[in-house]
Amino acid sequence: MKALVLAGGSGTRLRPFTLTSPKQLVPVANKPVLYYVLEAIAEAGITDVGMVVGETAAEIRSAVGDGSEFGLDVTYLRQEAPLGLAHAVLIAQEFLGDDDFVMYLGDNFIIDGISGAVRHFAAERPDAQVLLTRVADPTAFGVAELDAAGRIARLEEKPAEPRSDLALVGVYLFTPAVYEAVRSIEPSARGELEITDAIQWLIDAGRDVRSTTISGYWKDTGNVTDMLEVNRSVLEGIEPHKAGFADAASELVGRVRLEAGAEVRDSRIVGPVVIGAGAVISGSYVGPYTSIGEGCRIEDSEIEFSIVQRDSHLGGVRRVQGSLIGRNVTVTPAPRIPAGNRLILGDHSKVQISS
Ligand code: TTP
Repeated sequence: MKALVLAGGSGTRLRPFTLTSPKQLVPVANKPVLYYVLEAIAEAGITDVGMVVGETAAEIRSAVGDGSEFGLDVTYLRQEAPLGLAHAVLIAQEFLGDDDFVMYLGDNFIIDGISGAVRHFAAERPDAQVLLTRVADPTAFGVAELDAAGRIARLEEKPAEPRSDLALVGVYLFTPAVYEAVRSIEPSARGELEITDAIQWLIDAGRDVRSTTISGYWKDTGNVTDMLEVNRSVLEGIEPHKAGFADAASELVGRVRLEAGAEVRDSRIVGPVVIGAGAVISGSYVGPYTSIGEGCRIEDSEIEFSIVQRDSHLGGVRRVQGSLIGRNVTVTPAPRIPAGNRLILGDHSKVQISS
């Protein structure tokens, strides 16, 4: 069995971050989302991984390398444009050969991993198997309609009027039967070869397509709200760890992970929080569900429920919450006179100011 990881795409929903870095590398608890994906694949006992990459191939390659750090053997497969998930399968056929494979969307997050699903599929070996989970707003997902016997009757991509609340999780298991399907379908209205159409083709051709409904935690980190939510969920599971330095005037409350070389001075940190290597927090409050990246400086500031990526600086700002801050960002107060906000924001930035 092989794995196919999709790490291309456009990432329009996560602009401006995706203008300079692939969304699969946005850190959750200071570790890129894609690393969790690779760890789950290794844990399921799979070693051969095809990594579909697009315009951001160079960054993905420098973050993952040959995969040996994860115990994997990674082969890069270049997709010339984000032409859809089924298109990614099409270009990976040569690499995947006659093997069954698990396709894992590189921006998806499943806290319980995929070992159970992979074992189940290998034992039963249907033509394809999808994972489903109940969601509050199915219009944003691929949605499955089941028949009376619990088999998939119909799949629809982002339906305006969903027929169920069962969304497709970004992990799919396929036998080589899928190639005929991806070659037979036409691009959708949005110009992509949809994996839902390929699976529907298998169903219509009378193939054995099964589903498992999972109840564990799953998120597609495609937008900021979900990214912060995944960060919250991962931080929920961290253990306290103090490799860095905290002075006597500081208080570390609850589960705080202070990496080597990090310094906390005259500050209050209320976990769960991770503070990356070499970060310096002084005269500040860092509240629950916050990840501070390597080399950040947080001075005379208050922040909670946020992700701050490496080498960024917050000086004299309060209070920052529910925020996703990129790399090398500077946030400081506006001058008192004249009173006003001074904003230097790149394309597609989003700012909410309290006034
Ligand atoms: P999506 O989140 O569905 O698509 P996207 O990355 O284009 O994002 P947006 O909707 O915000 O513009 O993609 C799911 C995963 O699959 C993600 O990791 C990117 C990857 N992908 C590919 O590798 N190739 C593709 O052709 C597409 C559409 C996605």
